[in-house]
Amino acid sequence: MDNLDQIVSEAQSAFAAISDPDALEQVKARFLGKSGQITELLKGLGKLPPEEKKAAGAAINVAKTAVEAALNERREAIRKAALEARLAEEALDVTLPGRAEARGGLHPVTRTLERIEALFRSIGFEVADGPEIEEDFFNFTAMNTPEDHPARSMHDTFYLQNPDGTVADKVLLRTHTSPIQARYMKAHVERYTARVLPDGRGQLEKMPEIRIIAPGRVYRVDSDATHSPMFNQVEGLWVGEGVSFADLKGVIADFLKSFFETDDLVVRFRPSFFPFTEPSAEIDVAFMSGALKGRWLEIAGCGMVHPDVLRIAGIDPEKYTGFAFGFGQDRLTMLRYGVNDLRLFFEGDLRFLRQFA
Ligand code: DAH
Repeated sequence: MDNLDQIVSEAQSAFAAISDPDALEQVKARFLGKSGQITELLKGLGKLPPEEKKAAGAAINVAKTAVEAALNERREAIRKAALEARLAEEALDVTLPGRAEARGGLHPVTRTLERIEALFRSIGFEVADGPEIEEDFFNFTAMNTPEDHPARSMHDTFYLQNPDGTVADKVLLRTHTSPIQARYMKAHVERYTARVLPDGRGQLEKMPEIRIIAPGRVYRVDSDATHSPMFNQVEGLWVGEGVSFADLKGVIADFLKSFFETDDLVVRFRPSFFPFTEPSAEIDVAFMSGALKGRWLEIAGCGMVHPDVLRIAGIDPEKYTGFAFGFGQDRLTMLRYGVNDLRLFFEGDLRFLRQFA
């Protein structure tokens, strides 16, 4: 029966052309469905003479089995292809290295600050702060800086502009952290005198001591390998009864030994001048070992708080004395980590910064 072979091969090629399971079932109907070609042939058997029926029935059944086999084979192939596609799509390579979370780290200058704060807190200092946009009064006047002092000049100080471009009246980016001294002393005096009732009751016998460090960003018109227009300072202030230069020396020497984790250093107080201290000194340190051995390195300014600075803040300089200091926080960081270019700290290059994380 040529016709049957033809149906079978037609079915085989029709199935083979299909890769969608639903479409396959529809094509199946063309051959095996209620009025499919094979089904029609089987229905036609009844019209055949009895002697032909048996052979014809057997032949049709062989063809039917062949069509069914082709169908099942195709179904299986489609199922397998779908599974493989899904496996490929959802492939998971458990041998791949994990995707690590990018972890941040503290900037070396911040690490230095944390260290400085911890060391000063351990000897009873509080941490104070003040605004980076500062009034001329606190930055200069309250710090006993004369009107004609060169630091006030526009070559050294960033003054703020009004919206119309003119220089704002006495508003600037602070040039040092020293104005925090003035702000803190003023607030401290207000707090302590506020305790006094009109009849004098509640008056403290003496002013509580001031013992603060005040870290912060400061700004100057300056830029080279050792100067950046923005840098960090840490101010220190201790005011009380009988506070002396000897206390200053002791606090600074102890701090430096703890900060650099060595007793193998010497500290020198070199006479200097600041308008807000009298006497004033520059603090130099020299290491007795290591890469920087034997060189004097300038790291801070300091001195006894000038009587006028106390007076402006409302503190009686006959009764109280104090010392102050201002460290270059970036400089301390450079020395601690052996970094020789200040700009590296502010460029944000991760190859540099990662070394400290
Ligand atoms: N303010 C000074 C500066 O920026 C540093 C300084 C010197 C601070 C002496 C002080 C001090 O508190 O007593 O150069």
